[in-house]
Amino acid sequence: MSLAGNVALVTGASRGIGAAVAEALAAEGVAVAVNYFGSEDAAKAVVSRIQAAGGKALAIKADARDRTQLELMASMVKAELGPIGILVLNASIGFPMASFLEYPWEGFEAKLMGELGAAFHGCRAVVPQMLERKGGSIIAITSGLARNPGWGFCAHSAAKAGLEGLVRALACELGPMGIRVNAVAPGLTLTDATAHIQDKHKKAAADHTPLRRNGQAEDVAQAVVGLLQAGFVTGATLPVNGGSYVF
Ligand SMILES: NC(=O)c1ccc[n+]([C@@H]2O[C@H](COP(=O)([O-])OP(=O)(O)OC[C@H]3O[C@@H](n4cnc5c(N)ncnc54)[C@H](OP(=O)(O)O)[C@@H]3O)[C@@H](O)[C@H]2O)c1
Repeated sequence: MSLAGNVALVTGASRGIGAAVAEALAAEGVAVAVNYFGSEDAAKAVVSRIQAAGGKALAIKADARDRTQLELMASMVKAELGPIGILVLNASIGFPMASFLEYPWEGFEAKLMGELGAAFHGCRAVVPQMLERKGGSIIAITSGLARNPGWGFCAHSAAKAGLEGLVRALACELGPMGIRVNAVAPGLTLTDATAHIQDKHKKAAADHTPLRRNGQAEDVAQAVVGLLQAGFVTGATLPVNGGSYVF
């Protein structure tokens, strides 16, 4: 299924996985709205790279957790690029790392509301435009930690598991309207978010991965493009982890 001529909004696309997704979509002929929160220069650099390669893109600042800003961003994208047919919910919602018994409720609540609010309000802002186009496709970037948790990640695991649940619910509700909804669940992927992990731990993770390396942002982007092109797939979660865990 060709994606060319479509319009995509990628949240948190100034860096890491979101930036790779934006560039991969542009390479398929999709006009891309590159959402950022704090990294304006990085977002503009993504747009410049896309334009230099002959693609169409614009950078838009918005807090992906904020309903009003999401609604405004969706209208701005429609005005500049046309109705959105592809939504990639990628923005990274921060969280404290701590054991469950010491976990601050405020941090837990903020992570859940941020992650699920970004998906709820993002979809509510964009789905009307998809209906205008008579179809669309939504991809949520979840995490392998939703099903394969580790110490300190209780808020992240719960939030990403909730996101997967929302993906399945929306796939059922929106499918009859021509809108597919899927999740991509990366394993350890080398981005700014994982830059603090020591090299020896990254190597250990690679050694325990059947494909014997850590993931790159481009690996996730390739999976997103593949799912967007797979016209009869909805409600699915695609792990992108080199086989490090299987579900
Ligand atoms: N890296 C991994 O190992 C890994 C594994 C599993 C899942 N994931 C998921 O993949 C997604 C991307 O992660 P990443 O590793 O690419 O992170 P990253 O390199 O740290 O980039 C984070 C991106 O999210 C944006 N962002 C943060 N808060 C935002 C907000 N409130 N509104 C809009 N944008 C916001 C940042 O924008 P600014 O810089 O402009 O603020 C940046 O573009 C996240 O959902 C993460 O949970 C990552």
